[in-house]
Amino acid sequence: MNNELGTAEDLPVVDSCLRNQRPILDVLGQFLPKNARVLEIGSGTGQHAAYMTEHLPGICWQPTEMSERLDEITLWQQHCNRAGFLPPLELDVCQDIWPARDFDAVFSANVVHFVSWPEVERLFVGVARCLNAGGLLMLYGPYNYDGQFTSEGNIALDGWLRERNPESGIKDFEQVLLLARKHHLHLRADEEMPSNNRTLVFQKADTE
Ligand SMILES: C[S@@+](CC[C@H](N)C(=O)[O-])C[C@H]1O[C@@H](n2cnc3c(N)ncnc32)[C@H](O)[C@@H]1O
Repeated sequence: MNNELGTAEDLPVVDSCLRNQRPILDVLGQFLPKNARVLEIGSGTGQHAAYMTEHLPGICWQPTEMSERLDEITLWQQHCNRAGFLPPLELDVCQDIWPARDFDAVFSANVVHFVSWPEVERLFVGVARCLNAGGLLMLYGPYNYDGQFTSEGNIALDGWLRERNPESGIKDFEQVLLLARKHHLHLRADEEMPSNNRTLVFQKADTE
């Protein structure tokens, strides 16, 4: 990492990213084609962009966020000063027009449970438009199966989320699967991750 631009202490860090970045890298490394162009939705601090571009040489990573969080990502992007780590773009999944397209993959961590179901529907509309044929959608986070939480920790997280925003909360895997199918995105893998999280990997059909 280039330490001339800002010190590591200035950079925004959340502990959950430090814990999950390696397991996420392992899954991404398994599925992403070489030199993939990746769009990240809801990049948060920008830590995943920093870590993935460090460990997946040749990758081109486009972070995005709501306007109020773009500065955090910019701090990481300028600190890393790496060709594959692009300056962040503003993206609210509810926007009709997304700021970039023609991606080989879309990655998003901990956004699906953070937003409402209508926002997840908008996310899929946008993803289906900006992914190339055969492209991948990779969604990291917790999901319910058969209408059941998978851990006490996820019950607590869901309660916390709904207190903040009653429309948010952990989504049903089966509902997400049905929504994905409507957009010609088919489940390729459902990877178990630490702390009762999953990475869902969908692939866009070659032809619609
Ligand atoms: C729980 S945080 C996850 C951040 C990061 N991906 C991580 O794993 O640490 C959820 C993120 O979703 C973003 N977000 C919320 N609503 C959004 C929307 N409508 N469109 C895009 N991003 C949104 C928030 O700004 C927030 O950074």
